[in-house]
Amino acid sequence: RILILDFGSQYTQLIARRVREAHVYCELHPFDMELEAIRSFRPNGIILSGGPKSVYEEGAPSIPGELFDLGIPVLGICYGMQLMCDHFGGRVVPAGKREYGHAELHAKGRPGPLFEGFFLDGKSPVWMSHGDHVEQVPDGFEVVAGTDNAPVCAIQDVARNLYGVQFHPEVNHTPRGEILIDIFVRSICGCTGQWTPGQIIEDAVARIRRQVGREHVILGLSGGVDSSVAASLIHRAIGDQLTCVFVNNGLLRLGEPEQVLATFAENMGVKVVYVDAEDRFLKALKGVADPERKRKIIGNLFVDIFEEEATKLPDARWLAQGTIYPDVIESAGAKTGKAHTIKSHHNVGGLPDYMKLKLLEPLRELFKDEVRAIGEELGLPHQMVWRHPFPGPGLGVRILGEVKKEYADILRRADAIYIEELYKSGHYDKISQAFAVFLPVKSVGVMGDGRTYEYVIALRAVETRDFMTASWYPMPYEDLARISNRIINEVKGVNRVTYDISSKPPATIEWE
Ligand code: XMP
Repeated sequence: RILILDFGSQYTQLIARRVREAHVYCELHPFDMELEAIRSFRPNGIILSGGPKSVYEEGAPSIPGELFDLGIPVLGICYGMQLMCDHFGGRVVPAGKREYGHAELHAKGRPGPLFEGFFLDGKSPVWMSHGDHVEQVPDGFEVVAGTDNAPVCAIQDVARNLYGVQFHPEVNHTPRGEILIDIFVRSICGCTGQWTPGQIIEDAVARIRRQVGREHVILGLSGGVDSSVAASLIHRAIGDQLTCVFVNNGLLRLGEPEQVLATFAENMGVKVVYVDAEDRFLKALKGVADPERKRKIIGNLFVDIFEEEATKLPDARWLAQGTIYPDVIESAGAKTGKAHTIKSHHNVGGLPDYMKLKLLEPLRELFKDEVRAIGEELGLPHQMVWRHPFPGPGLGVRILGEVKKEYADILRRADAIYIEELYKSGHYDKISQAFAVFLPVKSVGVMGDGRTYEYVIALRAVETRDFMTASWYPMPYEDLARISNRIINEVKGVNRVTYDISSKPPATIEWE
């Protein structure tokens, strides 16, 4: 297992992902983790991340020097390398020229075990992002490579297993970075790559059994990837001791309740309490047009219904949630080391205190791709595992303004056609999120010999890595034409379709 100490770089999470992609377990902790805690974590290797500070600044984040005496291989990245140099008596200075973006690394000495294969004809393209650089390396270290701008960009002390790189091997812009991290964790640290979907499932199953014993667990199943994978994992561990509650709020996609029930209740034999609450939700939303009020109403009503169902299961001692690692890192602020806050996944996090349920979060160490991989391994349908994200309030925020059943029915049908066409044309997997939006305005059209006066459907498709920024997907005209034709011909009540060409920012992904 690998320990990553975080000095606040925007790329730290990517280091963890690259290590996990090498099938090696790792955890991300704040740089001020106690030495004792580091020892008891028993890492096979330590990676020091980059960070925004300068090592020579007053109060710059640091680590106990004993960390380098533990006999554990260390790889310092950017700030991490500078910290290592500073500790061993090298010199770090502000660079004459800040280096940001692509750069070419030139090999200087012998590459050594970590950098073997990193260079082609003595060169390697890398991604840089730094304002300081190492001017003088400490005794015992040799310089492996530099750029025209920064003479020291890769260093090693092979005898002590200490390595440093100024560039960022964790980002995709460093093409051979992945190999470097792989070599560090496997060859240098000796990790055997057992963090595979099968092994993750086996470990998780054992842990859930240990935690839960003979007690009962409830889980709010939404049909989304995280709660679905959590449900099937927990079911594999404790079978009938798990009860899922699936609330149909009337704002789900076409065929979704049926699909969830077929997958879980019928095929997997999971106990699912199905609550048809469409009328309750629509009644609560009547006359409400404000997006944030709609979100609140939907969230609160979900908690009420979930609570009603939970009290009917008096044995339940555990509440399971599909919290995943990015939620933990983001909400905790791994940098501050503050206590974790719970993701309000489907707002179940907001259950009243008196219910006194203990939290079971079997996915809290996993990245989304790992969650998907174990979902497939557990036998969940491919389409369910690779579905685009769907917001908790569902179609409630895709029907602009007041929500009505008539609107929801129209939107469901238009959305189903859109998504079906995206699958057929092979676009679905290239798009990060796609959906239809219902606009409650009527415009004039003509169909056959008659004049029509009907609603508008807007289509949205975006590409994004992190959902914080997104660009609209360049859908080919012929696909747009086919989708528009089908929606207007097949969905009664719609006579006009538009395609959203706004990026985020300044638009958001959802329309509300
Ligand atoms: P925006 O619209 O903020 O969306 O650009 C970013 C991502 O978040 C999802 N989203 C939500 N998810 N509850 C959720 O569970 C919500 O209220 C909500 N609002 C937006 C959105 O679908 C996109 O993936």
